[in-house]
Amino acid sequence: MVTYEVTVHTGTRALAGTTSYIYIQLRGTEAESEEKILDQAYFSLGFSEGSVRTFKVECKASLGELIHVKLSSKPFMGLDNQWYCNKILVTTPEDDEILFPCYRWLGCEEKLVLRHAKASLVFQDTNPIAQRHRMRQLEERQEIFGFVDSKHRVNEQRVWKVYVEGLPHANHYESALDMPAEVRFSYTKTIDFLYNLGTQLIAMKLEGLADSKMTWGSFNELDRILCENRNKTIACFVDYVQEHWDEDEFFGYQFLNGLCPMMIQRCSKLPENFPVTEEMVKDSLGRNRLEVEMKKGNIFLCDYKMLDGLVGNEVHGRKQYLTAPLVLLYCDSNDMMLPIAIQLGQKAGNDNPIFLPTDSKTDWQLAKIYVRAAEFSVHELDFHLLRTHLMAEVFTMATLRNLPSPHPLYKLLLPHIRYTHQINIMARNQLISNDGSITLYTAVGGDYLPKLLRRATASLTYSSLCLPDNISERGLWKVPNYHYRDDGMKLWNIIYEFVEGVLTHYYKSDGDVKKDSELQCWIKEIFCKGFLKRKSTGIPQSFQAVKDLVKFVTMVIFTASAQHASVNNGQFEFGGWMPNFPSGLRKPPPKEKDQTTKDTILETLPDVGTTVHTMAVLRLLSSISSDHYPLGDFPEEWFEVGSVPCKLIKKFQEDLKSLPDLIKNTKLELPYTFLDPENVDNSVAI
Ligand code: FE2
Repeated sequence: MVTYEVTVHTGTRALAGTTSYIYIQLRGTEAESEEKILDQAYFSLGFSEGSVRTFKVECKASLGELIHVKLSSKPFMGLDNQWYCNKILVTTPEDDEILFPCYRWLGCEEKLVLRHAKASLVFQDTNPIAQRHRMRQLEERQEIFGFVDSKHRVNEQRVWKVYVEGLPHANHYESALDMPAEVRFSYTKTIDFLYNLGTQLIAMKLEGLADSKMTWGSFNELDRILCENRNKTIACFVDYVQEHWDEDEFFGYQFLNGLCPMMIQRCSKLPENFPVTEEMVKDSLGRNRLEVEMKKGNIFLCDYKMLDGLVGNEVHGRKQYLTAPLVLLYCDSNDMMLPIAIQLGQKAGNDNPIFLPTDSKTDWQLAKIYVRAAEFSVHELDFHLLRTHLMAEVFTMATLRNLPSPHPLYKLLLPHIRYTHQINIMARNQLISNDGSITLYTAVGGDYLPKLLRRATASLTYSSLCLPDNISERGLWKVPNYHYRDDGMKLWNIIYEFVEGVLTHYYKSDGDVKKDSELQCWIKEIFCKGFLKRKSTGIPQSFQAVKDLVKFVTMVIFTASAQHASVNNGQFEFGGWMPNFPSGLRKPPPKEKDQTTKDTILETLPDVGTTVHTMAVLRLLSSISSDHYPLGDFPEEWFEVGSVPCKLIKKFQEDLKSLPDLIKNTKLELPYTFLDPENVDNSVAI
């Protein structure tokens, strides 16, 4: 007889423990053990939360090289409760310790087959039992994350849901509760989220104002509301925004380091529909000429043409107005990014004046408010929802459907797809649905929202998702004080090095990449379902070389972590003071100058109820969950103990730890901390 020692780790999450009978069977290359109950004594300890229990499994002879462990569960005294198993460690008679990661729920009368942690590519997994398990696992996942009929025929129409025609496809779940337990929020997170959503207005003591259609009487009234809702950690930031929102320096700063730092681009030639003259900007440029400054690379443009022709939503019974402004900016000799001209519509003409800093204070202030309102729409729908949430969902779906658990890329990406399905289902049900907050309280919600998302999707390119390429395309390598770029590049490079280390450990040559059929299915599905088979996006349809794969996977992890943090985490900080980030405007843009008064501005800004609803949503979306995992945190062990990837994970964590001092930018008047690794979530989870 030989003895295998089995150590069972129950998860620490709420309700992870079980009183059910748990059975185990070991399968090796030579034989399999008998199915053994892991605790035969009645009224035993069971498997409580966080428990670690060891058992012996006797076999007549060695099972050979262990391939998988089968777990099953039967109810104890009719009590059907699920069990969350973290992992199983098996010590063989030869004294090898083999890890079988689980990190899943097991219900009564269910079975789980766990592969050992050693990663392998499909053509390296040569044992027929292992091959069968690999195939079966993908079939099961495609049933769960798509629809495969009983004869294992994939119904192409129903595999991914087309939420809106022309958008990246999505998972088909209508409700988070329908999803398999392992991709749902943990108990803590669900409670947190419901608590926040349900009681945000009450917590902010704003429920009495929620239905008010009144115009704010003054900025002081708004100040009193905000004052009660600054929590300590962000109070300084919110105070700063409130104090400086109307200054040109801060308005310009936000194009580089605000919520939407990916729109500004170097301007070497004025667009034909934006006829700014030397005369118009002579006060802003001093002795310098516009044409010369353009050649020097000191002139920048932000063009919201994506919003052109969209009709604003109705909010609280009032029509809202969307504009598609063009903003010209000048990086002056003090390294300040300053707005020098604003045109609120795309079609140049006498009824579409070009506003200048030399215009009346109210004219210039109102022009900047229209730009900030345009930024709200583009930020929330394009840069936040589409380019991070929906992209991350595509990567999540493709990973779960095409990469089995032994695949190294599956193990690598798992921390970066956590909770993404659920948060997107919640966003579809609670933000952009017919009665969602974006639909009810923003100019961009409602009928024209799909149109904007379709335009945004049509403009999506691979290079715009890769930070170094994106900075090159926008001509922004030299612009000073661009913390988003500087901190983002530090993270991009660290992620790249980590991904390169892990993937080159498994893919020894370009040939390995080419013959990995699972990987090729993964990228093909991303191309077809995420980028709608558009070759013009530059998204690869297949991988031919290791370096191409490394870059793509870096982009996937960067998008789900750093990029999402950069557009998500500061929403209340920048948007809590409503005039800096209005969700809609109630008056059409001025057609001539010198007509605007202070009252016009208050009448244009959102009403009281719309303001407080938007504040509540922005605060919810910026809040940090109690079970947040920062970038580099890998709480689950998916790679073999002591393997090269484990060492690389350690190095990755050390590299990230060495960053905060460099990245916190604490000496700045307004510290830029959104890309401090401690503040970056591993995945799109809020
Ligand atoms: Fe988000």
